[in-house]
Amino acid sequence: MNDFVFCSPTRFVFGRGFVDRTGAEVAALGAKRVLLVYGGGSVRRTGTLQRVMSSLSAEGVETVELDGVRPNPEVGLVRTGIELARTHDVDLILAVGGGSVIDCAKAIAFGVPYDGDVWDFFSGAAKMGACLPLAVVLTIPAAGSEASASCVISNDALSLKKGVSGDVFRPRLAIMDPELTFTLPQYQTAAGVTDMICHICERYFGAVGAVPVTDGICESLIRSVMDAATVVRDDPTNYDARAAVMWVGTLAHNDLCGCGRDRSPERRAGGWESHGLEHEISAHSPQVTHGAGLAVILPAWMRHVWHANPGRFLDFAKGVFDVEPVDETDEAVADAVTFAIDELQRFFVSLGMPRTLGDLDVTPEDVRTWLVTLRQNKGERFGEFMPLTLEDARAIYESAF
Ligand code: NZQ
Ligand code: ZN
Repeated sequence: MNDFVFCSPTRFVFGRGFVDRTGAEVAALGAKRVLLVYGGGSVRRTGTLQRVMSSLSAEGVETVELDGVRPNPEVGLVRTGIELARTHDVDLILAVGGGSVIDCAKAIAFGVPYDGDVWDFFSGAAKMGACLPLAVVLTIPAAGSEASASCVISNDALSLKKGVSGDVFRPRLAIMDPELTFTLPQYQTAAGVTDMICHICERYFGAVGAVPVTDGICESLIRSVMDAATVVRDDPTNYDARAAVMWVGTLAHNDLCGCGRDRSPERRAGGWESHGLEHEISAHSPQVTHGAGLAVILPAWMRHVWHANPGRFLDFAKGVFDVEPVDETDEAVADAVTFAIDELQRFFVSLGMPRTLGDLDVTPEDVRTWLVTLRQNKGERFGEFMPLTLEDARAIYESAF
């Protein structure tokens, strides 16, 4: 087990009806005036926004609103939010939504105390410093941003989607009420489940070998969320299954699944190859849901790289799918690994996720554009399990059509 630092400072308030506790929990953080950030309207339609606002006003907490955060959030709205937060002198940013809303809120929170343009953090021109406190009411389990040290923002003018990391903007508070997710369309539920499984796999297939405690957590989380997601698909208001999906989403990305697998205590475990490849797709085509892109890219990446360390893929096949090779021949190993990868893809498709990139309304001609910005973002080689050249990336993209 390698050395690691595990920082998960978020207070999780998890339960049925707990959205109504938002006001009391936010007030307990000392907030008097908050910037309430939300998306394109689901929280209005579902009544969640009204419940959040009532509970805040019951505690005397004032609100300033920023709405209209789109999926794959854009830096323009972050800049608007920074101005609003400064003008109204808010003391906390409250995100009500999913990864897109939370990431927009995070960027506002670290943009407010910074004198320059917030994109400087994403371009590498500025180092992470002070940050306003953040709280979250989670409405979709997926990105894990409610506990993660990541913030991913698009810049349409530059055709870039970039992430920054920092423990300083991990939310102080996450209100997690599984009933809020009953209204999620199956496609979004499925994309979220895919994303969380990918967050686990990115760490599981890092450069570090077996770490039994962490590997067991990873395999158990994947098995649990696969079971729960199947129940939710057939019974969307099943509370226990929704709750399981929600909690797995958090544990998949609060770095628990990387403990002891980190190459250095200061660096997140894993090579994040599938995320690197997918982010280029949703950067150029914001209509592509992150998790749906991953449903295609993760199996394609696995098929391309498993030869680099078949033993690790056999651990996965056994730990997640109870599959072992019938003997030790190369052929039997290949069969077992291929079966596991196929099973994972079958599962994604069974939830309604796409099988090919063509299903996502992108074309093979787009690959060239993705590779240009991939090179800008990741350089000539990236990843850990099997460092990928741009030619590898091209082959993975092309194999996924
Ligand atoms: O915008 P509204 O109307 O609210 O609708 C949203 C949105 O269209 C809808 N939705 C959310 N909760 C709902 C609901 N609809 C009905 N009922 C509810 N309860 O769902 C849609 C998707 O929301 P979004 O926030 O975009 O989803 P997700 O949580 O998957 O976030 C995706 C973003 O997070 C980034 C992705 O790249 C993408 O930009 N990621 C952030 C990470 C992080 N910060 O740690 C890690 C991830 O790997 C990921 O990259
Ligand atoms: Zn993700």
